[in-house]
Amino acid sequence: MKETRKTPPARELLPRHLGIIMDGNGRWAKARALPREAGHRAGAKVVREIIRYCAQLGIPYLTVYAFSTENWKRPPHEVEALLELLRGYLSDVEQYQKENARLRVLGELSPLPGDLQESIRRAEAESAANTGITVNIALNYGGRDEIVHGVRSLARDCAQGKLDPESITEELLSSRLYTAGEPDPDFIIRPSGELRLSNFLLWQSAYAELLFMNVLWPDFTPEHLNYALYQYALRDRRFGGV
Ligand code: IPE
Ligand code: IPE
Ligand code: MG
Repeated sequence: MKETRKTPPARELLPRHLGIIMDGNGRWAKARALPREAGHRAGAKVVREIIRYCAQLGIPYLTVYAFSTENWKRPPHEVEALLELLRGYLSDVEQYQKENARLRVLGELSPLPGDLQESIRRAEAESAANTGITVNIALNYGGRDEIVHGVRSLARDCAQGKLDPESITEELLSSRLYTAGEPDPDFIIRPSGELRLSNFLLWQSAYAELLFMNVLWPDFTPEHLNYALYQYALRDRRFGGV
C-alpha cells in the first residue's frame, strides 16, 4: 500500500505534539549488504530532514526516539556509532538555530560519556530562547525508567515532609517527567513494520493516536509524513467521551 502523500493536511489539523519511533535502520542496511552503522548514518540524515520539515509545517512539539534504555544491549561499536551521530547533531548549533528550534534531551544522561553530556547541556542552553519547534531527543530514554525517576522525586519530597502523599495527582507526576511542561503526544508514528511502543512515552501516550508504517526509517520522506499526518487528521479522538 502506498504510504505517501504529496501535501500535508491543513495546519489546524496537525498534532500539537508528534512522536516518532525511528526504527528500521538495521534492516535497511542489511538489505544493502551494508554494516548496521551505515543504516544509522542514513537514518541520521533523515531525522534532520524531518525536523526541518516539521518546523516548516509549524508542528509545535516533536519527540524522536533515538536511543532506548534497552539499546545498550547492542554491540559496543554500534552503540558508539549511534552516540557519535547524536553528538554530531547536538553540536550543529547553526542547524537548530536556523530552524529556531528549542532542543531538549529526554532520558537519563549520567551513563553517557562526559563530552556528550556537555554537548547536550550546551545545545539545550543555546537553544533555550528559541521560539519555534521544540525538538525532544529521547536518548537513553525508557518510559518505565522515566516513571521511576518521577516517582522517586515525589517520594523524596514526601520523606522530607514537603509533600502529602494524598495530594499527589496525575498532573504532579507529569510535572516530574522529562517532558514536564509539554503537552502529551497526540500522535505517535512507528515506521519499520513493528507493532509495539518499545518503552516510548508510556505515561504520556495514554490517549495518543498510533500509526505503524511499513517504510524503513532511512527511506522515510516528508511525503511519508504527509501521509501519516493525513491519517491523523481523519481520526476521531474521543478521550472516553461520546
Ligand atoms: C533504529 O533502527 C535505531 C535504533 C533503535 C537506535 P534499528 O537499529 O533498530 O533497526 P532494525 O530494527 O534492526 O531494522
Ligand atoms: C526502539 O527501537 C528504540 C528506538 C527507535 C530508539 P528498537 O529497535 O530498539 O525496538 P525493539 O527492540 O524492536 O522493540
Ligand atoms: Mg529496531
